[in-house]
Amino acid sequence: MFSNPVFTDWRDHHAELWGNTPMRLSHRVHQHPLFSMDSLARLIESYPREHYSLVQWGKHGESGSFREGELGGLSGETVLDAIAKGRIWINLRNAAAVNPAYGELRDEIFAELSRRLPNFDPFTTKLGILVSSPKSKTLYHADLPGQSLWQIRGSKRVYVYPAAGPFLTPEQIERVALSGVEVNMPYSDWYDEHAQVFDIEPGDMLHWPLNAPHRVDNHDCLNVSMTIEWFTQDIRRTHMVTMANGILRQKLGIEPKSRATVGAAFWTKAVLQKALRETSLVKRENKARRKPEFRLDPTRPGELLEIEAA
Ligand SMILES: [Fe+2]
Repeated sequence: MFSNPVFTDWRDHHAELWGNTPMRLSHRVHQHPLFSMDSLARLIESYPREHYSLVQWGKHGESGSFREGELGGLSGETVLDAIAKGRIWINLRNAAAVNPAYGELRDEIFAELSRRLPNFDPFTTKLGILVSSPKSKTLYHADLPGQSLWQIRGSKRVYVYPAAGPFLTPEQIERVALSGVEVNMPYSDWYDEHAQVFDIEPGDMLHWPLNAPHRVDNHDCLNVSMTIEWFTQDIRRTHMVTMANGILRQKLGIEPKSRATVGAAFWTKAVLQKALRETSLVKRENKARRKPEFRLDPTRPGELLEIEAA
């Protein structure tokens, strides 16, 4: 076992902070052989098409111009070279499920978290890897599962905002839950005055409160980051209430009165959201994957070849 313990600076009081405030911890995953450039190249070139997203971001990282593409059977080294020289990122969304070696690492990490945190009982766990170009940006958004971000290579600036209004309102997180995909959230420059800002380097891990909005600016270097995500029973209950409140508010025009995850109101909502989730009332938008619009150019690293519309 490589990473025992995976956290190198964990102290007892971190269990009290975990999930309650944005926090940085130190880890050793960046030294793991699974994250050598060689291992990453092998992982990328064998990664099934349906499990990765290859994205080109717009000029100067502007919003609104993100396109999806595909690798086109290139070697892992060529792909890494293209990312280092281009304006793209690849999200290997579920490396733990695709490759058992990464699955073992995921299980080690969650076993250690379960030892360190009282009542930590995740029943769904995921490990993903994000390789991104110098200066890539991830726009302001919020996610539904518990999550943490582990820096492996390069460095980036991460802004974490309070998981409360006006940064995150119940309506906004309901919209994320109902759509099932990341949605654009309103953002203003002055939000940054209320963010916690972290410049993270290899060996740093960040964790933040559930649903806390965040955005990321890569520094001017190739970045490799790992994400882990999980659902616990508590997070699942919160998610069920968010879904039910979203249905009440956005589909039935009723203002929800509570976000309680216990008691009669909770159970009514649990039944409501289960009954309605699969109906056309809550049709998951955007579930179909977007058509790839480009392929990586095998001869000019970082350049893209347009895929002609059939
Ligand atoms: Fe995120």
